[in-house]
Amino acid sequence: MSRTSTMLELDSLRSRVEAKLAELLPARSAIAQPMLDAMRHAVLGGGKRMRPMFACASCEAFGGDLEPALVGACALEFIHSYSLIHDDLPAMDDDDVRHGQPSTHIAFGEANAILAGDSLHSLAFQAIVDSDRLADISKLRIIELLSDAAGWAGMSGGQCLDIEAEGRELTLTELKDLHAAKTGALIRASLQIGAFSATAAPDPARYQALTDVGDFIGLAFQIMDDVLDVTQSTEVLGKPAGSDELQDKNTFPKLMGLEASKAEAERLLNEATTRLRDGQLATPALIELTTRAVHRNY
Ligand code: IPE
Ligand code: IPE
Ligand code: MG
Ligand code: MG
Ligand code: MG
Repeated sequence: MSRTSTMLELDSLRSRVEAKLAELLPARSAIAQPMLDAMRHAVLGGGKRMRPMFACASCEAFGGDLEPALVGACALEFIHSYSLIHDDLPAMDDDDVRHGQPSTHIAFGEANAILAGDSLHSLAFQAIVDSDRLADISKLRIIELLSDAAGWAGMSGGQCLDIEAEGRELTLTELKDLHAAKTGALIRASLQIGAFSATAAPDPARYQALTDVGDFIGLAFQIMDDVLDVTQSTEVLGKPAGSDELQDKNTFPKLMGLEASKAEAERLLNEATTRLRDGQLATPALIELTTRAVHRNY
């Protein structure tokens, strides 16, 4: 595909996402200022913004404009940020650093961190409902996709298994299911939500291809997260390196070794790229983001 002036340029897309996140996040509350400060710390303090950028790139691939896509994109990031706040809590991974800064519970206390997560969860759905750029039918599908991906069968369910399985060894199949739920579900939903931000009725064959791509990238993304936890420094990661071993987590490197884990992520990247091409979805932005999901160092 040749470069055109309408092609999503990822650096400027990232800036648009940052601006929209800041716009949608409340700044002042008469009753809950410390919690709002914690929300803003968690969301605006950093992050690669992979999920929002996947949503916007997917919307572009289905012929949609950027402005409507930004709402679902930010909703995804609010859910993701909430999941990270809770993930870092002492009752979960007990990590004190995130994005190179004190984790939300360190900066604002555990109670405010828990509540900031709760409120970001609600804010995600509120942002979609309040949008005047999405058709009602698209809003319903986006809410359905986001709630499925965030809830008991998706991210929170996966987090439950992640914690419950600390200290005992899962099989490879169980570990794949864990990663598909805790991380894969939200990444797959990012692509799907992008499609529904463009149209209420995406072409079924292309939508199926998109969903498959989401599954490949979702698993590859968490495999690489596990790999980087072992291979990178805390400084590069912006979060504590070696956290998984400390918590006796089930990870790909632990189960199949470092090199086999990297090879598996690479294999999934190839599958995803092939499926993007087969599904007429190989826009420069989707190809680049898919590659970045695996070829990254933090
Ligand atoms: C980290 O996700 C947690 C996982 C689900 C793997 P990211 O690596 O996308 O985190 P940020 O937002 O860029 O910090
Ligand atoms: C987190 O997985 C997945 C979430 C749903 C937040 P990790 O616990 O491995 O994420 P990091 O490494 O702390 O970012
Ligand atoms: Mg965790
Ligand atoms: Mg963690
Ligand atoms: Mg990790």
